[in-house]
Amino acid sequence: MGVDDWESAVARTPGYGALDSSGPPTRPEMPLWMSARTQQVMAAFGSALDRCQGRDVIRVLDVGGARGDYAGLIALSYPKRRFKWTVLETPETARRQKPFESDDLVWVDSMDAVDPHVDIVLASAVIQFLEDPHQRLTELLARSDWLVLNRVPLWPIPDDAPAVHRARVGGPVLYPCWMFAEHRFLATLRMTGEVVLRWHVPQDVAFFAGVRRPYQGLLVRARPTDDHAR
Ligand SMILES: C[S@@+](CC[C@H](N)C(=O)[O-])C[C@H]1O[C@@H](n2cnc3c(N)ncnc32)[C@H](O)[C@@H]1O
Repeated sequence: MGVDDWESAVARTPGYGALDSSGPPTRPEMPLWMSARTQQVMAAFGSALDRCQGRDVIRVLDVGGARGDYAGLIALSYPKRRFKWTVLETPETARRQKPFESDDLVWVDSMDAVDPHVDIVLASAVIQFLEDPHQRLTELLARSDWLVLNRVPLWPIPDDAPAVHRARVGGPVLYPCWMFAEHRFLATLRMTGEVVLRWHVPQDVAFFAGVRRPYQGLLVRARPTDDHAR
């Protein structure tokens, strides 16, 4: 549902903080069944990984990575590579997941706690829930070599539109979100990166502004800049 501005979307929804503030920690799982959108992330991640040669340990930042399932899935799929996996989450989720931390998997709630430079950023179904998504995309590309985006609502509209996203997590929940103007989103990525792969996510289809279409995924190579802190 579209709303006038981001503040109206926030006012109408409890948001992620409220959802995550209750409940026990949840152990990262190795799912027995893998959704198509998970497989799409795995494939794009592999493509980025192939081009990260010569690194002993691949540093990954998983934005909105929830309970950290992708860390185990990727490690299982690429047994010859080692990973240092950082999940950037809401303060509530980051605190809740602490019991499951290891040498290779940690949760943080701020970019200040992330390595200045990582090899791969994964951001699946999260960019649209951030208040300042364009700034965050630019920052993520400045601090990484590769950005894997999945489940992003890119729409044929003139400007980004704030909206209320309805989901089912146990019961129905509402979040403030952005429906992105496709051309603007791509322009932001192209300022500091190059889109090398793009795909539809048929498991995430929405009707908005009179258009029914699937969300999208993108693999973006960051263009090195002088202030890339490696
Ligand atoms: C729809 S889930 C996506 C989970 C997982 N990445 C996936 O693709 O299935 C969105 C996740 O983003 C997290 N999130 C929401 N706002 C966030 C923020 N400002 N910073 C970090 N994570 C956030 C939520 O807590 C939630 O785990």
